[in-house]
Amino acid sequence: MVGALEVEGLTKVFGRRVAVDGLSFTARPGEVVGLLGPNGAGKTTTIRLLSTVLKPTDGRFAVAGVESTEPARIRRRVGVLPESSGYPGYVTGTDYLVYHARLFGVERRAAAELAGKLIAGVDLAERAGSRISTYSRGMRQRLGVARAMVNDPDVVLLDEPTLGLDPAGQRQMLGIVRRIAGERGATVVLSTHMLHEVEQVCSRVLILDGGKVVVSGTVDEVTRAVAVQRSGRLRVPPGLVERAREVLDDVSGVSCEVTRERPDVITVRVAGAGDTNTALAAVLAARVPVLAFEVDGARLDDAFLALTRGEPR
Ligand SMILES: Nc1ncnc2c1ncn2[C@@H]1O[C@H](COP(=O)(O)OP(=O)(O)O)[C@@H](O)[C@H]1O
Ligand SMILES: [Mg+2]
Repeated sequence: MVGALEVEGLTKVFGRRVAVDGLSFTARPGEVVGLLGPNGAGKTTTIRLLSTVLKPTDGRFAVAGVESTEPARIRRRVGVLPESSGYPGYVTGTDYLVYHARLFGVERRAAAELAGKLIAGVDLAERAGSRISTYSRGMRQRLGVARAMVNDPDVVLLDEPTLGLDPAGQRQMLGIVRRIAGERGATVVLSTHMLHEVEQVCSRVLILDGGKVVVSGTVDEVTRAVAVQRSGRLRVPPGLVERAREVLDDVSGVSCEVTRERPDVITVRVAGAGDTNTALAAVLAARVPVLAFEVDGARLDDAFLALTRGEPR
């Protein structure tokens, strides 16, 4: 079966900066794919490429079999909530949606009916007749999602839809995303810098860092990959291995292991809130000289720390 979305080697270069570097993935109808990454990872550029706002430097993609070389046809099949969009404050939510439906050629009466359905679908029915200037940020974001649906898209692209929303607003938005994929069978590409959102709504995830995919797969696979990668090796003088292990045993979230083959190397694993730097600091504080310290998958680890702490980079 042809996937709803097929992306192959997608690349965007701005001057000397590679914003998106050889991105490839496919997504089926009804699937929610998470694009997870810290600020600057390339999420927005990816969404702008897929919505044909930007032209790829290299690579291709197809939406329901329509090739990216035909942007006008792609635009009829995708819906997008951009990173930031302005809304005319003086019109009502309903009028806004009717206007956009009309832009896609929907006849007036059908457009009004469609607007009513879409606005109810994003939990805005009660405020449908209010001017957008009276909407909260969460309501505007939901209206933006409704707007993305006016052309009954196969693929819905949502760029950080929960950004700036309070926890209740985030939950509501994620519920809407689930419905778009589950009930309408659309493919959703959702960008976010928050790991927990991916865990809640995505079937698959691509973690981007510096425009490249650092890890991808089902949420379970990625979680496992991350867990495995959160480890490092510490080499200390042979006579101080036992001392170092005692110290490490007292660091919460850290476990360690020494093999017979390399009795001077301690493999440190961290879980939960633990981190390899804390482990290293504890060993140094106990005045055990560290001869070498190597962190496995440092890039992934870095990406994840930045992600889970929500820190911009
Ligand atoms: N129009 C542009 N011109 C030049 N550089 C850009 C442009 N858009 C994005 N970039 C750069 O591309 C990289 C990825 O940005 P972006 O896709 O916005 O990341 P994200 O959405 O993950 O925060 C960043 O280094 C950013 O500065
Ligand atoms: Mg962005």
